[in-house]
Amino acid sequence: FGYLNYLIERDRRFIFDTLTQGLSRLEYRGYDSAGKLSYVVWAYANFGVAVDGDTEEEVMIVKQVGKVAALRKLIDEQTLDFHKTFISHCSMAHTRWATHGQPSPINSHPHRSDPTNEFVIVHNGIITNYKELKTVLEKNGYVFETETDTECVAKLTKYIYDREKTNGNLTFTALVKAVIKELEGSYAFIFKSKHFPNEVVATRRGSPLLVGVKTAKKLKVDFVDVEFGTAAESGEGISNASEPQTIENNFLSPDGGHPKLQRSQSRAFLSEDGLPQPIEYFLASDAAAIVEHTKRVLYLEDDDIAHIANGELHIHRLRRDDGISSSIRSIQTLEIELAEIMKGSFDHFMQKEIYEQPESVVNTMRGRVNFQNHKVTLGGLKAYVATIRRCRRIIFIACGTSYHSCLATRAIFEELTEIPAQLELASDFLDRKTPIFRDDVCVFVSQSGETADTILAMRYCLERGALAVGITNTVGSSISRETHCGVHINAGPEIGVASTKAYTSQYIALVMMAIQLSEDRTSMNERRNEIIDGLYRLPGHLKEVLSDDAKLQQLAADTLYKEKSLLIMGRGFQNATCLEGALKIKEISYMHSEGILAGELKHGPLALIDENMPVILVMTRDSLYPKVQSALQQVTARKGQPIIICNTGDNGISSQYKTIRVPQTVDCLQGLINIVPLQLLSYHLAVMHGVDVDFPRNLAKSVTVE
Ligand code: G6P
Repeated sequence: FGYLNYLIERDRRFIFDTLTQGLSRLEYRGYDSAGKLSYVVWAYANFGVAVDGDTEEEVMIVKQVGKVAALRKLIDEQTLDFHKTFISHCSMAHTRWATHGQPSPINSHPHRSDPTNEFVIVHNGIITNYKELKTVLEKNGYVFETETDTECVAKLTKYIYDREKTNGNLTFTALVKAVIKELEGSYAFIFKSKHFPNEVVATRRGSPLLVGVKTAKKLKVDFVDVEFGTAAESGEGISNASEPQTIENNFLSPDGGHPKLQRSQSRAFLSEDGLPQPIEYFLASDAAAIVEHTKRVLYLEDDDIAHIANGELHIHRLRRDDGISSSIRSIQTLEIELAEIMKGSFDHFMQKEIYEQPESVVNTMRGRVNFQNHKVTLGGLKAYVATIRRCRRIIFIACGTSYHSCLATRAIFEELTEIPAQLELASDFLDRKTPIFRDDVCVFVSQSGETADTILAMRYCLERGALAVGITNTVGSSISRETHCGVHINAGPEIGVASTKAYTSQYIALVMMAIQLSEDRTSMNERRNEIIDGLYRLPGHLKEVLSDDAKLQQLAADTLYKEKSLLIMGRGFQNATCLEGALKIKEISYMHSEGILAGELKHGPLALIDENMPVILVMTRDSLYPKVQSALQQVTARKGQPIIICNTGDNGISSQYKTIRVPQTVDCLQGLINIVPLQLLSYHLAVMHGVDVDFPRNLAKSVTVE
């Protein structure tokens, strides 16, 4: 999270509050591997008035491990004049999910180039060639204070700066360009330096980053010739050999060739009347941290380099040859409301999100499903329907809960469309270097739209010429931007790490997609109508299940709370329900739980069954009901005492079993209803175990590293 004010007087208290508040909003995104959060605030204080060119400077870093409250406390303990005001100022803050180096204050960001904090950076992502960089830097006398990959980027910045500073034209942007050209891996960075007071450079590749703009005036967008760039590789642009040379891309090969000199153009966001204007900028990896300040945001693309100085925002490109003039960088208006990312009267975000489902499913269908005419129109896919119908196969690629939503809908997809459907976990898909062809359609399902594995899989498929479809909950996310077409599930921000409402909305989005694609198949009319009617009744059904919450809480307390393990079994459409239910339980209650395909029971899992093994059997009515009955017999014959999820009014279940009753719907939608009691059970188990429900240990909401 970064904050910059220009020509607006802000005191230190305000600045720290803005930073820590930004961190609280991002709190849900990640935790370090010890289950604690590490937070860092860095405040760059330019004493005096920056616009007057005052020079007295100070850089201050505060680091803490724990929750945001611990950081706030530490800040309050500093001997500082909190009333001191700054007319122009910039600062940054970061929460870390540990990759290299354990969670500790020292490993927390920002990382610095040297003990005087000449260059300070915060970073999301992983720099994969950091060892090589570190070796070179150590040879050049740099002493490292942390185990992180990020620190070498701060030190590399100083190394290049020291080498090039005699060059009068060295801009902050050119410096950062030279730095990132040396980097492999993924990143979103904010750079700050005392050599460039009140300036910020932010750039990304693979990790999300957006800029919020708050100003009373309008901004105009312009192309400005501002910089003597380093885009030597492109061979394009205005070559001007008489211009002084800036930085060469020769850090690791000091004898490397001299690039051609070029001017590079930036896309600039300037005040309309050209006069300096009071303005504030907010940088964040997620809109949730920005929306309370401003709804005007600009999503950076990979290799964009955003430079903020003197109240102006300039977007440069790392290379000249990638057609910036045709790509869109406009200021967009966020549609989320602050209230949507607040807990309201609920104890936890997860609980709130489970309870929102009767509404969120409606939002997913709004304007898309016509219940009278039995028609589904997904605007984002419309133009591609014919292409998708002609494809060789359709491949659904996702991670975690999003993968389960694909699993839940695969059968209905195949049934309605008759297109062969393949499912892939993104990491495994990449590990296998799966063959992909131009006539494949690849569907990337991701709540955040930022999961690194899914993004890498998407780029892999794009490179091979496949049609990429995105199904995400996050407008402006990498997946929604980089795919050819797609569907926003419109479930509203999901904060709880354990995904709930996004699952049901993804499920519906995929069903809607199948319906739309099958529209030309008249033989499927009746089936489609039946499903659309089921969708119509869904909100009511979900409310019915939620009204049983107290019973489920009791069941969790009476029968499951003390257990170490839980098996959840079912088959057919309910296979996904079992896997997703088991994932919820392990994620937030830390209880071992496994989803088992009932058809596989006799091939192994049956060995686990005895009178002590807790089992939940999903046994709602569909064509496989007799087969699930036989699974029940197999379990009871081994003295198992399963809890049965069955339909209200199903009299075929012996009273010896504990049951969870749910309303019946169309077979392919039943999973939307059946998952809710499992979500609630997992929630109650977590609360009973004293787990921090929204922040389970070791997990992150949005896994932006591979
Ligand atoms: C993480 C989260 C899960 C989520 C998965 C995929 O593991 O903890 O809740 O299902 O990532 O995330 P995505 O944003 O791509 O759906």
